[in-house]
Amino acid sequence: MKRTNQIEQSVDITNDESANKMAKPFLKWAGGKGQLINIFRDFYPAGLKNGQIKSYYEPFIGGGAVFFDVAQHYNIQSAVLYDINQELILTWRVIQQNVYQLIEILDSIRKTYEKLSENAQSGYYYKTRDDFNRSMHKVEYSEYNDSWVLRAAQIIFLNKTCFNGLFRLNQKGEFNVPAGRYKNPMILDEQNLVNVSKLLEKAEIKHAGFKIVEHGIKADSFVYFDPPYRPISKTSGFTSYSKFKFEDTEQRQLADLFHRLHNRGIKLMLSNSDPKNIDPDDHFFDEIYKEFKIARIPARRMINSNAAKRVAINEIVVTNY
Ligand SMILES: C[S@@+](CC[C@H](N)C(=O)[O-])C[C@H]1O[C@@H](n2cnc3c(N)ncnc32)[C@H](O)[C@@H]1O
Repeated sequence: MKRTNQIEQSVDITNDESANKMAKPFLKWAGGKGQLINIFRDFYPAGLKNGQIKSYYEPFIGGGAVFFDVAQHYNIQSAVLYDINQELILTWRVIQQNVYQLIEILDSIRKTYEKLSENAQSGYYYKTRDDFNRSMHKVEYSEYNDSWVLRAAQIIFLNKTCFNGLFRLNQKGEFNVPAGRYKNPMILDEQNLVNVSKLLEKAEIKHAGFKIVEHGIKADSFVYFDPPYRPISKTSGFTSYSKFKFEDTEQRQLADLFHRLHNRGIKLMLSNSDPKNIDPDDHFFDEIYKEFKIARIPARRMINSNAAKRVAINEIVVTNY
């Protein structure tokens, strides 16, 4: 894509007329923060609103709901987005660099898919999933290349048509979610992909673990951390965004990083599930973030495929300001 468009810098938060120009998450992502944005705005640092904060960092970008809000409502000049999931980062980077070719491929997938019977659609899904998994070993992930475009289209297609919209990889890194049953899945949202691509002109997108955020970050930055949830019960055990584990050791390493960045004057916000939802005596986060403000806000977890188990639970929000 020729990237000639200027970035829309700051959008009036109250102006809904521009809604169709607004970029929004292009993947359904486990732990996505779309539902919490209105509440989160109250927690953003004052410097974001008065223009002192120039750079935004999000080391667990996922579907990027908070990035889309911050980048379109406040005057940040740059954004640095990371995730350890290389398939996810590949998709973000294809949208950034080659959105029109991606749209062409998705359009052709969409047309093929829509003509099929329900059974044949399911067959098409499993064939795409097989192609996707089989080609994994041929992908050159370290450097952007044109073969990424088809892969990004497959990821978006699989995400829009898979069961519950979960992107789950097994230990071998294979995508193993079964087909979903949707009447009219939105396989291609062309306007949104173009909007996202424009917005990403001011972003740097990297495949990396969260610790990299420490390197080269400036004091006038805001970092939002949305790590994998600490499982809310011993049995729920949801940690499988990728083949990488995220357990209490990693949560503590993240808290150490939070302290180091705090000492450098950087504004920080972090969210996680509240372990007290299940065990009121679980003080894990209260202990590892005891020097900081911890708020508890109501959130509805959508990850459980069983509607009856989608209970109202709290999310914690930690800030250092
Ligand atoms: C709760 S999700 C983020 C959701 C995101 N805020 C949204 O609105 O869609 C957590 C993300 O952390 C990523 N992740 C897991 N371990 C990581 C690590 N060590 N470093 C960086 N990212 C990691 C996962 O791939 C996943 O995308």
